[in-house]
Amino acid sequence: MPLIKTKKELRLQLSLAKQKGSLGLVPTMGALHKGHVSLVVKANSENTTTVVTIFVNPTQFDNPEDLDKYPNTLQADIALLNEISNEIIVFAPIAAEIYGDEMKSKTYDFGGLDKVMEGAFRDNHFEGVGTIVEKLLTLVRPDRAYFGEKDFQQLQIIKKLVALSNIPVEIIGCPIVREASGLAMSSRNQRLSSSLRKEAAFIYETLLTAKFLFGTKSAKIVTEWVADQFEKNTNLELEYFTITDIEKLRPVQRKRPNTKYRGFIAVYAKDVRLIDNIALN
Ligand code: PAJ
Repeated sequence: MPLIKTKKELRLQLSLAKQKGSLGLVPTMGALHKGHVSLVVKANSENTTTVVTIFVNPTQFDNPEDLDKYPNTLQADIALLNEISNEIIVFAPIAAEIYGDEMKSKTYDFGGLDKVMEGAFRDNHFEGVGTIVEKLLTLVRPDRAYFGEKDFQQLQIIKKLVALSNIPVEIIGCPIVREASGLAMSSRNQRLSSSLRKEAAFIYETLLTAKFLFGTKSAKIVTEWVADQFEKNTNLELEYFTITDIEKLRPVQRKRPNTKYRGFIAVYAKDVRLIDNIALN
């Protein structure tokens, strides 16, 4: 499997790959798990060649400690990808290859999609995500790019980015992959102690009940109910639970007919920040 570190080498491999047929792109920050694998398997089944990028993007971290602690498991990642196909192109550059000596985000007008939830709690996070994804899409020029609904807000912002920047690519959203306990798979789960990892299943259990309640109760009542559950839980600290429509991600005041809603949650398990979301109707 080709492991590529420079843009020059990548362009060479891509020109060969493009002669063979279509190209799928899966951007990641590594520490790959079954959630990432599901994206790669889908990309690989829908395209002639799949490119997986592994790059821990500094500009999307508002917390330097989180960036420092981000796991690096490149050899294991490559072995995992090799099990899917030994023809996957893996691009794992260093930061200077991507940013040169200007480690900066661009500014975007995402129409408010970036102002709520993750955007409200993580300064400039989505400007960093937009910057790296735009760079990767422009570099690779894939036919399709794959993103997980685990980061549903990110997925919607990337669809907006592609529309704003006129990048000719199909953005494909993929369902959330969960551990047996229901906890959404995340590279950060590795940092949980085994008891906290079990405890963290409470997040998805609460989302499932919230979905049930949303069938008959108002968004306000469901939101308050979720907050109450976390008040009673001494191991997990709720940062936010927000219900929005799925298109504009506007926090819901009053439920409307023919509108799809999702519930979004961020929780601290000690110092590990976990996010999840669920379709409510
Ligand atoms: P990362 O957190 O590594 O995730 C890479 C991709 O895998 C994202 O599209 C994410 O939504 C998806 N993913 C992660 N966990 C998943 C799960 N349990 N089920 C389904 N999909 C899952 O998201 C990023 O990296 C970065 O922001 C990136 C887009 C690479 C830009 O730096």
